[in-house]
Order: sequence, then C-alpha cells, then structure tokens
Amino acid sequence: MATELRLIHTIAELRSALAGPLRPAFVPTMGKLHEGHLALVREARRHGRPVVTSIFVNRLQFLPHEDFDRYPRTLARDVELLRGTGCDLVFAPDEAELYPEPQVFKVAPPPALADILEGEFRPGFFTGVCTVVLKLFECVQPAVAVFGRKDYQQLQVVHAMARQFALPVEVIGMPTVREADGLAMSSRNDYLSADERRDALALPAALRRLAGCAREPAGVAPLERELLQGLAGRGWGPDYLTLRRRRDLQPPSEAERLGGEPLVALGAARLGTTRLIDNVEC
Ligand code: PAF
Repeated sequence: MATELRLIHTIAELRSALAGPLRPAFVPTMGKLHEGHLALVREARRHGRPVVTSIFVNRLQFLPHEDFDRYPRTLARDVELLRGTGCDLVFAPDEAELYPEPQVFKVAPPPALADILEGEFRPGFFTGVCTVVLKLFECVQPAVAVFGRKDYQQLQVVHAMARQFALPVEVIGMPTVREADGLAMSSRNDYLSADERRDALALPAALRRLAGCAREPAGVAPLERELLQGLAGRGWGPDYLTLRRRRDLQPPSEAERLGGEPLVALGAARLGTTRLIDNVEC
C-alpha cells in the first residue's frame, strides 16, 4: 500500500512536522535514489520512528572541477520511489534554505582520518560532508541515522563526529547493495557508457582479489601495485587500491594482517569521466 508521504522544503515546516514525541530515523541522501538508498530507508523504518529522507546536493563536498553541476537532480522520481518504502517525510531544501549565507562555520574532521584515501584525492570532501551532516542532524534531530557502507570512509568519519560531539544519534552502517553482476549501486553509475558499464566490474573484481589475498604470508604490496597497473592498463585512472584496518583505515602491520585484524580493501578509480569507489571487507 502506498505510504502518505510529505515533501517538505523548509526547516520551519520540517520542525513543525516533526513536533511529535518520537525523534525520527533519518536517511541523508543527495537524491538520484536507487535500491541502495531504499534499503537504507527500509532499515530506518525498522526502528518504529517517523522516517525522514533528505535530498540535497551539497555544494560544500564538491571540488570546483567535480560534477556538482551535472549531478542528477530527479526529485519527482525520487519521491515516487520513496512511496511504499515507509518514508514519512522527504526534506528537500534548496541551497538558499540550507545555506542562506555562506557557510563559514565548518566541521573539520581530523586529518589522520579525513585526509587519507578519499580525502587525499578530494581535499576538503569530508569537511563538506561533516558540515552538511551536522547541519542536517540539527534540522532533523534524528535518534537514528542510516548510511551506506559503500562510502566506507564517510561512515567512519560520521561515526567519529557523532562520538566526539556527543550527538544524541545512533549512526548505523548498512551493507552495500550491488547490481546482479556485482557492481556497487551508485547514483554516478548512470554516467557510464555501455562499454564503461561492462568495464566497471574491473574495480570490484580487483578489490575481491586483494581481499582474497589479504592474509597471504608474502604480503600484499606487490599485488596492490599490480592491480593498480592493471586498471591503468585498461584505461582507468586509479586513485588508490589498498588494504586497511577497518577500525581506523590505517595500513595494518604484518602481525595484524596475519593475525586476523579485521581489514577492508578499498578502491577508487576514474573510468572516463566517472569516479567509482568500492570496498570489500576481509
Ligand atoms: O553519501 C551521500 O550521499 C552524501 O555524502 C551525504 C551523506 C548525503 C552528505 O551530503
């Protein structure tokens, strides 16, 4: 049965709609929703609270040369997709609503966590993410917030921010939802040409191989290099492909790697003009 769902554009309207006794469960998104987002909304629903999904393409987390302008904005379609998932409110502010003046107060996450991996190749990205997520948390006042584990580092950064600021919100990470052939679902997959879409599987394949060899006594550095070169040889522009500790995304020591420390293989690479990221825990 279709859910009664309200589309709200202002913070004032949102606050009055959420004036009831239960703080909501919240799914922040940038729209162009796919099954991965809908799985987050279904998880949010399980908490027996009103469910809010936000749709806002956050300029602060894009570098000048990145795809802010062409990022797909498909609000009407997104709202239709959310009907029947159990979402109660869609909060879709425009820029003037969320950033009525230049956002000069920002949340700067620690460099050890935020300037590596994604942060090395997208400087300032996590400052943009933390700033908007904190602001959205202030607007929505959620008790629970649900994020996808495809953005593995983002989830770690948001967890750390919530802990350090004692935010009264439980941050939940959900498994990556994949297409039938194994490609991680992403709003950016739509940028891929048909040929690129076929070749896109090379990234999860490389990460699975790295994860599968994570405990090899000989070490993984040569394999990391080989996999990066392999992607480059197929015309990709790989940024990183590396094995890290899950707990802080730092490289594991040999003792940790061989001793069962929980690890994750993380990768990001450009295929044509599309940048894809993915990860495999091991
Ligand atoms: O993961 C995303 O879609 C964005 O980074 C988020 C968390 C909605 C902040 O803009």
